[in-house]
Amino acid sequence: MSRHTAIALVPRPDSVTPLPGHFTLDALTGVRAGPGADAAADLLREALAPATGLPLPPRSDGRVVFLLDPALGGLGAEGYGLTVSTEAVVLRAARPEGLLRGVQTLRQLLPAEALAGSTHRGSAWTLPCLRITDRPRFAWRGAMLDVARHFQPAAYVSRFVDLLALHKLNVLHLHLTDDQGWRMPVAAYPRLTEVGGRRAESAADGLSHAGAYTRAELADLVAYAARRGVAVVPEIEMPGHARAALAAYPHLGNRPGTRLETWTRWGVCENVFGVHDEVLDFCRTVLDEVTDVFPAPYVHLGGDECPRTEWEACPARRGPAGAGGRARPAPRPGRFMRTVSAHLTSLGRRPLGWTETGTELPAAFTVLPWRDPEHGRGAALRGHDVIMAPFRSTYLDYPQSADPGEPRGQDGVLDLRGVYDNDPAPAHWEPEAAGRVLGTQAQLWTEYARTPAELEYLAFPRLCALAETAWSAHRDWPAFLHRLDRHRTRLAALGVRSRSPHTVPAP
Ligand code: ACM
Repeated sequence: MSRHTAIALVPRPDSVTPLPGHFTLDALTGVRAGPGADAAADLLREALAPATGLPLPPRSDGRVVFLLDPALGGLGAEGYGLTVSTEAVVLRAARPEGLLRGVQTLRQLLPAEALAGSTHRGSAWTLPCLRITDRPRFAWRGAMLDVARHFQPAAYVSRFVDLLALHKLNVLHLHLTDDQGWRMPVAAYPRLTEVGGRRAESAADGLSHAGAYTRAELADLVAYAARRGVAVVPEIEMPGHARAALAAYPHLGNRPGTRLETWTRWGVCENVFGVHDEVLDFCRTVLDEVTDVFPAPYVHLGGDECPRTEWEACPARRGPAGAGGRARPAPRPGRFMRTVSAHLTSLGRRPLGWTETGTELPAAFTVLPWRDPEHGRGAALRGHDVIMAPFRSTYLDYPQSADPGEPRGQDGVLDLRGVYDNDPAPAHWEPEAAGRVLGTQAQLWTEYARTPAELEYLAFPRLCALAETAWSAHRDWPAFLHRLDRHRTRLAALGVRSRSPHTVPAP
């Protein structure tokens, strides 16, 4: 029996029909890409080259065939059909994005060594014969990477994009700014990265930490991700979580005479942007540069955890006195977000924001409810598009078990099952609420995760579970665990140290 008899794809495809036999890729195998299908063929070639050394040259009689086929339009923008026979591999999709998803399926169908970063000449590069029809349940399937708390170099972020793409995740939400660090270069405000890009210590290890991207690195990352069908969605936090910016430019805050350091603690910082014209101009200038670098239709504007303490304490910031000579009430974060998002909309982009209650952001915002999932339902019923990000099932910085050997994280536990069992649009929701759910994403906050190895240990295998909740309409925990065993050999070939699911308490 071939070792491929059990087909163990993650996330689970919509429909798989195993067939007898296998197809072997060898040094003579050519690839025929129909019109519009070259990018997917190039991706397969690039992905397989390091381990297999196979040239997979373009050939009009190639037996690996990539075709755009409008007849598959019923599978949506990312659906695809794949047939592997002993004679040929035929991948078809209505759109190039579907072919890119199919390439990831092909990578997973090969022996795990095909994913390795260096040559494995001894392996036979066989694929099991089968028929697959596949399409995602949700259009937004993502992961947020917090590069503000601990910076990760662009080369690592590219690897992270590869890992997302392998799981058919299509959004990298890059959390570029926070109290603890500002990583996005802005020509008009160089101190953002010079001063806001470094801090004296982190809660993780008490060590100083620094880093920022160049514009060219970010542009390269965007292009690299696009070739894999992954959109990079930038986040610039406002009006709270702004302490790094205030360390660089104190006049943007509420205590212009006070010198602030980039924050060394973690939590909710009471220093926030002021609400005055200079700040709004600053936000507009930053967003002009952000939208120059990042072509994604969405920009995340933060919006979470903004204490009003400084605004309350600072009557000068409240504008002229209102009727009866009484000071106007302090502004609300929602007003700030409305003003800034109007600029973003004028640039042709759409605002995203964290929501704590589902009610605080203007209707133009697509919201990410991060506290109670029911806030997502309420926001959807009020007309927001929603991306589900509740901490109890998507925050991968919580330890994966109560085992004291787990790395330090937030207080609490989020185990693999807790991620897997989360339905982004639960069956009990009204159809009009469920219909507003664009999808879901994982959150990797990094106050305690410093290195790629630490990040990947948190992410895997929980990100595999999240990918399945986002892609697949089917849910079967025992079958997932079974597939995951094989999938972890792929992760191991990629050099990812993932936590064993067998240490998860039995359900
Ligand atoms: C958040 O966890 N403050 C989005």
